[in-house]
Amino acid sequence: MARETRLSVDQLVAPLFLVEGEGVRDEIASMPGQYRLSVDEMERELSELAEVGIPAVALFPAVDESVKDPTGSEALNPDGLIPRALRAAKRAAPDILTISDVALDPYSSDGHDGIVKDGRILNDESVEVLAQMALVQAAAGADIVAPSDMMDGRVGAIREALDEGGYTDVAILAYTAKYASAFYGPFRDALDSAPRHREGIPPDKKTYQMDPANSREALRELHLDLDEGADMVMVKPALPYLDVIFRLAEVSDVPLAAYHVSGEYAMLSAAARNGWLDRRDAVMESLIAIRRAGADIVLTYFAKEVARWLSE
Ligand code: PBG
Repeated sequence: MARETRLSVDQLVAPLFLVEGEGVRDEIASMPGQYRLSVDEMERELSELAEVGIPAVALFPAVDESVKDPTGSEALNPDGLIPRALRAAKRAAPDILTISDVALDPYSSDGHDGIVKDGRILNDESVEVLAQMALVQAAAGADIVAPSDMMDGRVGAIREALDEGGYTDVAILAYTAKYASAFYGPFRDALDSAPRHREGIPPDKKTYQMDPANSREALRELHLDLDEGADMVMVKPALPYLDVIFRLAEVSDVPLAAYHVSGEYAMLSAAARNGWLDRRDAVMESLIAIRRAGADIVLTYFAKEVARWLSE
């Protein structure tokens, strides 16, 4: 009764990794218990998630190296992995909201969220492709598109493209304060999407993702995204950035999400596996802390497990 903060299943989003094929359930080495799923296996997973009451999933594609190119053109393929998965998801679990990722890194032979030229990321050229990418996803049935690319001006460009295409009711979840973080390592392993170590390719994402030392800048990103029409905003990663979550929650007039990222999952899983932490207690404490800081929605790889614990 006296608790100030609560966690419930309807605040949780489960991120899922997808891969081509049939009957594929390929465990990710640095994320034990998380898998690259073929679309049929995703359908099975969605039924389980629906059963435990998870309201939404965020889909990420592990794209075959052979279809990657410098402009990430596969991201615009209406029959690509993600559009097919979005259509299948609506058939398999019509009540689960689908959130599709808008960024080029899974499709880019350079491993960047935007297009690279002469060692730099081309912001405006990238934004044009990203807006088209959001349109392809909306056409395939995405309920929410989530630009995670951190280019400037992409939220406004995506809103305009969606509205012109007739997708006025597709929402935008903006990765607003996305930090250039070491905690995305396991995710990049899962998708093989890390920046490539090659001449002329920036070795990290520090020119577009945020400096971990900055929090005032997160407010600036928030105001830009809200002005451009974001329906929801996000801080990412979660636990190392509770102060940023708190700061944005105080002023945001749209729902605030926090992404409990792959590295956070990996740390907790590894310690629990070694018997160094109690998995359930440590996970529940982490998630309530993220809620206490002010997140309304939490994306977490623990979503299904937590849903079960909450129902006990
Ligand atoms: C890339 C993207 C990343 C994540 C979500 N979208 C990684 C990156 O920026 O390199 C990370 C999620 C996680 O670590 O769980 N657009």
